[in-house]
Amino acid sequence: MNLIWKPCEEVTQPSTYNVEPFTINKNIMESYKLQSGGRMPAIGYGTFLATGLELEKSLNIALETGYRFIDTAIGYNNEPIIGKVLNEWISAGKVTRNELFILTKLPCYGNRPEDVDKFIKQSLHDLQLDYIDMYLVHLPIGLFKNGKSEYSEMELDKSTDHLKIWKKMEEQVHNGRTKSIGLSNFNIKQTQRIIDNCKIRPDSLQNENHLYFQSPEVVEFCKHNGIILISYSSLGMKAFREAAGLSWNNKQLPEMLENDVLVKIAKKHSKTPAQVLLRFINQKGISVIPKSTCPRRIMENFQIFDFKLNTEDMDALRNQDDGEAGRIVRFQMIKNIEDHPEYPF
Ligand SMILES: NC(=O)c1ccc[n+]([C@@H]2O[C@H](COP(=O)([O-])OP(=O)(O)OC[C@H]3O[C@@H](n4cnc5c(N)ncnc54)[C@H](OP(=O)(O)O)[C@@H]3O)[C@@H](O)[C@H]2O)c1
Repeated sequence: MNLIWKPCEEVTQPSTYNVEPFTINKNIMESYKLQSGGRMPAIGYGTFLATGLELEKSLNIALETGYRFIDTAIGYNNEPIIGKVLNEWISAGKVTRNELFILTKLPCYGNRPEDVDKFIKQSLHDLQLDYIDMYLVHLPIGLFKNGKSEYSEMELDKSTDHLKIWKKMEEQVHNGRTKSIGLSNFNIKQTQRIIDNCKIRPDSLQNENHLYFQSPEVVEFCKHNGIILISYSSLGMKAFREAAGLSWNNKQLPEMLENDVLVKIAKKHSKTPAQVLLRFINQKGISVIPKSTCPRRIMENFQIFDFKLNTEDMDALRNQDDGEAGRIVRFQMIKNIEDHPEYPF
């Protein structure tokens, strides 16, 4: 069993920039070079809404499948489970720490410079790690938690100061708690302001990005600035969208995984629509972090590096973009979020 990320000669360079193929457990995986020096796998395992025994089982399956990049956040309330599983794998010698790439995030109720140390230490403790591979500011807006657990009950902290928070994020790299730092849900203007005033540039930006919300301007901005874009909700988060009553603004859009153009391309390549959605995003140099707790889908989502979409496929999929009307996530569970001066959308 080969657990080392190493270049795989038999695979031709698959996509656009900064990409190298890797082999893990006989599966092929690509990775992206980070400005800070390391590499980030091009596919990670998303863990939003995955907790308890279900997560414990599915994370084991994900690691068996070959996923080495795990995406979590304090806000997902699952870091202790992830820590338990990682510790078991490392203790059993099934994986070494440096083969893993663990990403977690500063919660928006910690968006104050004096809170950053406390929350990264909490994540390190819960994940049972000495360092994190990538630490992100989860949202550009700040909240006061005031002892509440529901976002809808927390109060806006309108004094959020990105530059002061970023300085504390940089300190986390200097003191060895994280190897790299980045942003999530920041818009171009907010990200540019960090770039213009930082000592350590953001290595990544984790934003909503999928077939119906492709934000080519953000893709181009990231590419221009050497930032790796990480797409979330790449598969359209169907179950959560329906449960939470969320939708893209254009109600005419077909369910993403049933989109005719997508289904036709999937059939042509003998792949599933989900695999084509992920490959489409990856071929643009964007990292993906699909979430699944279903063993078959966990494996399916990882098998995306053994085929290539041609220019015609890519153009047809690009044409499905619905711009701002395709956005799903607006964080409206946070009361009056649009009133925050740093609301990004
Ligand atoms: N930074 C942020 O603010 C932010 C926001 C949202 C998400 N994220 C991160 O991004 C990750 C992914 O986004 P997401 O969880 O919103 O949505 P997603 O990965 O687009 O979709 C997940 C949904 O798709 C289903 N699914 C997974 N694989 C499938 C397949 N092959 N075929 C059909 N259905 C499939 C899953 O159900 P099953 O589990 O039943 O398979 C689940 O309901 C999250 O888990 C989280 O780590 C970050």
